[in-house]
Amino acid sequence: MAEPLPVTVRPMTASDSEAVLAIVGAAFADEPEVVPLQAALAARPDNHGYVAEHDGRPVGHVGLTRCWIDAEPRLVEALVLSPLSVAPDAQRRGVGSALLRHAVAAAGAAGAPAVFLEGDPAYYSRQGWRPVAELGITPASPRIPAPACQHVRLAAYESWMRGPLVDPDTFWEHDCVGLRGERLTAARAFFAL
Ligand SMILES: CC(C)(COP(=O)(O)OP(=O)(O)OC[C@H]1O[C@@H](n2cnc3c(N)ncnc32)[C@H](O)[C@@H]1OP(=O)(O)O)[C@@H](O)C(=O)NCCC(=O)NCCS
Repeated sequence: MAEPLPVTVRPMTASDSEAVLAIVGAAFADEPEVVPLQAALAARPDNHGYVAEHDGRPVGHVGLTRCWIDAEPRLVEALVLSPLSVAPDAQRRGVGSALLRHAVAAAGAAGAPAVFLEGDPAYYSRQGWRPVAELGITPASPRIPAPACQHVRLAAYESWMRGPLVDPDTFWEHDCVGLRGERLTAARAFFAL
């Protein structure tokens, strides 16, 4: 890793919107659907965004939105972490890790039982994320390779909170749940599924 970039992580405000969309667009240059997804998520009352700032300039963003575990006794509210974006010129300097730590701490402080995400386990496992299968939880779509569906368990988690994950409608409206086409084929081949 290059020299760590010192950042302050703070809640996103409405005046950050433009800068955040620019960061998301640059980080997800190959996945343009993530920009309108972020715009729609930010408009939800159950979305909480956090911005990493260096020298007063936003260089990263992460969002948390309410999701559910469809457990047998009842629906359980939890949080889905997406998207996580670091400006290309600030990547590999600890900013993504700082945003992940902050988001997980905020989720724990809010009383959520767990945080979930879809992503590369090679990156997230280093930050303590584990496959949801360990909890008896199944991904929100069969198009999410099981190892890529990961969680951090928080203090409020109880062992009966197991079952399928249910993502908020905004992710479905933007077709941002799981993978399709070549990316799905490549991920399945990578994980030997
Ligand atoms: C993925 C991302 C959020 C990581 O943020 P970051 O600030 O660059 O990462 P950090 O500096 O905290 O961690 C860097 C370490 O993670 C590793 N890493 C970064 N991305 C990785 C990936 N996709 N797979 C495996 N390792 C990865 C780096 O190699 C580095 O390790 P090193 O120091 O041994 O080289 C950032 O690169 C990004 O915005 N990427 C584009 C958007 C994206 O893919 N978001 C996540 C979607 S699930």
